Amino acid sequence: MNKSTTAPSSNTTSAPRVAIAIMAAGKGTRLKSKLPKVLHAVGGKPLLAHVITAATSVIPAADVYAIIGHEANRVQSSVADKGVKFILQAEQRGTGHALMVARPVLSAYDHVIVLSGDAPQITPQTIARLLNFHLDQQAAMTLLSADLDHPAGYGRVIRKSARSAEVQAIVEEKSATPAQKKIREINAGFYVFAVPQLFEHIEKLSTANPHAEYYLTDMAEVLRKAKQRVVVYKTENPGEVLGANTRAELAFLDHQIRMRKCQQLMADGVTIFYPTTCVIDDDVEIAADTVIEPFVQILGNSRVGADCRIRSYSVIRDSQIADGVLVRPGCILEESRVGTNAILGPYSHLRPGSDIGEGAHVGNFVETKKIKLGKGSKANHLTYLGDAEIGAGVNIGAGTITCNYDGVNKHTTIIEDGAFIGSDCTLVAPVRVGKGAYVGAASCITEDVPEDALAVGRGRQIVKEGWARDKRKADSPRRHGATEKKLP
Ligand code: UD1
Ligand code: MG
Repeated sequence: MNKSTTAPSSNTTSAPRVAIAIMAAGKGTRLKSKLPKVLHAVGGKPLLAHVITAATSVIPAADVYAIIGHEANRVQSSVADKGVKFILQAEQRGTGHALMVARPVLSAYDHVIVLSGDAPQITPQTIARLLNFHLDQQAAMTLLSADLDHPAGYGRVIRKSARSAEVQAIVEEKSATPAQKKIREINAGFYVFAVPQLFEHIEKLSTANPHAEYYLTDMAEVLRKAKQRVVVYKTENPGEVLGANTRAELAFLDHQIRMRKCQQLMADGVTIFYPTTCVIDDDVEIAADTVIEPFVQILGNSRVGADCRIRSYSVIRDSQIADGVLVRPGCILEESRVGTNAILGPYSHLRPGSDIGEGAHVGNFVETKKIKLGKGSKANHLTYLGDAEIGAGVNIGAGTITCNYDGVNKHTTIIEDGAFIGSDCTLVAPVRVGKGAYVGAASCITEDVPEDALAVGRGRQIVKEGWARDKRKADSPRRHGATEKKLP
């Protein structure tokens, strides 16, 4: 665990000092998973990463704290690159307890925005509006609400009166009366608190509820009874407050995030046929006039340039594809780069570290790993190229294999510009084929081939004239004899 600092970093003296605390310590019992809930992914990123991105768009990362507990080290390392700080809630005794634990750190601020780490669609705009409403209202607690058609499972907002922004209480589903369960206005799990009032009264929370936990939601009633102002701000966009407590909710949110991504890409000039079949992660970039066919996955930190066509059933992960590239059906690309106007597939497998040059072709059932294939070079059929540096204008014949592994170490094959490797060759690394050299088909190359040379490394062909005809003749009487013997 990193030690968290207590000093607010960047707020000016005149403006209120604002922190964000993201509650992310829970196990996520309802997911029935070894993985902590906030690390379950939607849109290709952990739930918590989405919430952190929204939070750090509102205030600097130095004032954003993730409250972690269950599998804390794993959660922390998965979002370590975000620049936020961490607070450990070693024992998870409820959302109210999470804030109790954060007290030493948050006491240095005037207001704290509290976000749920399991609701990934929250936007920076809504967080900012919630804060502004809270400051305008001079409230001790402001909560975000939404009207849901299916509110089951959420806490319900009990207002003082239908028109009032003031809140009487938040009632959790399990404690709600049948009449309260009919309320469609739910507590979204996002709040702003005035820090002095929060911590003056937080010890009044009790665990007298069905889960025997400290509910942060009970602060509404606690503060109201202490004559503090508690108000609610309702968002017009209920979609952004949905939480992921079950696998079904995860799948629903994932679909929503991906559909929004497709809509955004299409608005930016990308053609996506049958978008509901495509899986495109949130951070993927695709330039205009590229066409994505049905059943394509583009994942992780991938970029596809302009005027490309990605044909069906291809899976692209953490790869960079330049402009004008054709990826034919069924290709798999992992951590690779593809140059302008290159053609891949069908059924090419680019494993990590493949760097395919401008205009190069990688064809049917070709596997590459940690290679550089130069400009305009071709490996079109049934080939394995691993740990190889291949120059420009090289032709790799069908069935070529770089034998890169001796059982202990990996070795490099170098094929220089303009070389021609005939079909069915094995190149036993370390080995070099010089510029413009030819390697005859079916050769096993174990020694370097000089520039412009021809190397042939195979058994010499023997021809025996008439051998087959003589064999047929020799076999024929014996066959007849055998038949005659069997006659009665
Ligand atoms: C909570 C609210 C509910 C609201 C819903 C919105 C409470 C008691 N209820 O219910 O009114 O409608 O969110 O999504 O708050 N967590 C901790 N430490 C803990 C317990 C939880 O950090 O000790 C974290 C969880 O990891 C999660 C978040 O707090 O990210 C919310 O907890 P969760 O158990 O999902 O609460 P809900 O049952 O969804
Ligand atoms: Mg939840």
